[in-house]
Amino acid sequence: RYLSGKSNGKSKVNQTISKDSAKVVHSFDIEDIGSKAVFCRCWRSKKFPYCDGAHTKHNEETGDNVGPLIIKKKEL
Ligand code: FES
Repeated sequence: RYLSGKSNGKSKVNQTISKDSAKVVHSFDIEDIGSKAVFCRCWRSKKFPYCDGAHTKHNEETGDNVGPLIIKKKEL
């Protein structure tokens, strides 16, 4: 079966964010992150690319188990 990647019957991860873009990419300089940043990996956050806790509802509704990526400075 031919899979074009556009209509192969698989569901999309990104339902709402920047749908007019061919690819959603965010880039941060590590020096600008500060002591801690929490990034969304469920694609449901209203503050994307940051986590706003929307993953909890998504997990409850779907049985999924996704959560954020947390980047933080080591405590010395
Ligand atoms: Fe998406 Fe938290 S809101 S990981």
